[in-house]
Amino acid sequence: MRRILVAGNWKLNGSTETIKELLKGILAGISDAKADVAVCAPYIYIPLVQDILAGTEVGYGSQSISENDSGAFTGEISGPMLNDFACKYAIVGHSERRSLFCEKDTDTANKFAAARKHGLTPILCVGELLEEREQGITEEVVSRQLDAVIELEGVEALADAVIAYEPVWAIGTGKTASPQQAQDVHAFIRGKIAKLNAEVAEKVQILYGGSVNGGNADELFAMPDIDGGLIGGASLKAEDFLAICKAG
Ligand code: PGA
Repeated sequence: MRRILVAGNWKLNGSTETIKELLKGILAGISDAKADVAVCAPYIYIPLVQDILAGTEVGYGSQSISENDSGAFTGEISGPMLNDFACKYAIVGHSERRSLFCEKDTDTANKFAAARKHGLTPILCVGELLEEREQGITEEVVSRQLDAVIELEGVEALADAVIAYEPVWAIGTGKTASPQQAQDVHAFIRGKIAKLNAEVAEKVQILYGGSVNGGNADELFAMPDIDGGLIGGASLKAEDFLAICKAG
């Protein structure tokens, strides 16, 4: 049985004050969570998150990672730096990185490799744009995004990774994919992996992301191939986030 993972993606949000408050709220209500829980913080707050979460069951990580370990890459943060602060996860290939920061499939694959090289669990985001769904090429798009990683790292690498299916049209829009729409793509992803390695397909956690909230998480997480969620907006309020952590 795969465990449910609920990971918060805070994006470009938070301050020392609000993060202290948010984590205090999460820790106060986490004991009856059904899921494994993690938060992905802006880089600069990771030391604060580490201090507060040390010795708790809540994991934490970053929202991206450099492909490089060190050198002349102004503004970047590397795997060894994230190790220095005991991060467990690194999101790679979030649609906002792909669209706003021009990250290509190969960049995402290199970041995925960098995370694994340093013992971090990559949370690999894949998902189609609205026009791609309307053109009926969702599976093609998701396949291409996965293939970049599989070609570089091999399918076995997915066994220690997390995949997040996030239809771009559902992110931050309040338009969640229906549980069946999400399940169909999750089943496609698992089936694609199973053709290469059945054991890896059985093991890999596939999260759904895109306007998940306390009201829809139960139904989504009840689907056979949905193993939790990557949560943006609703991860910024302890009460909303906890409602999702208790779902499933
Ligand atoms: P959302 O974001 O929950 O605000 O839609 C999800 C994400 O971008 O990971």
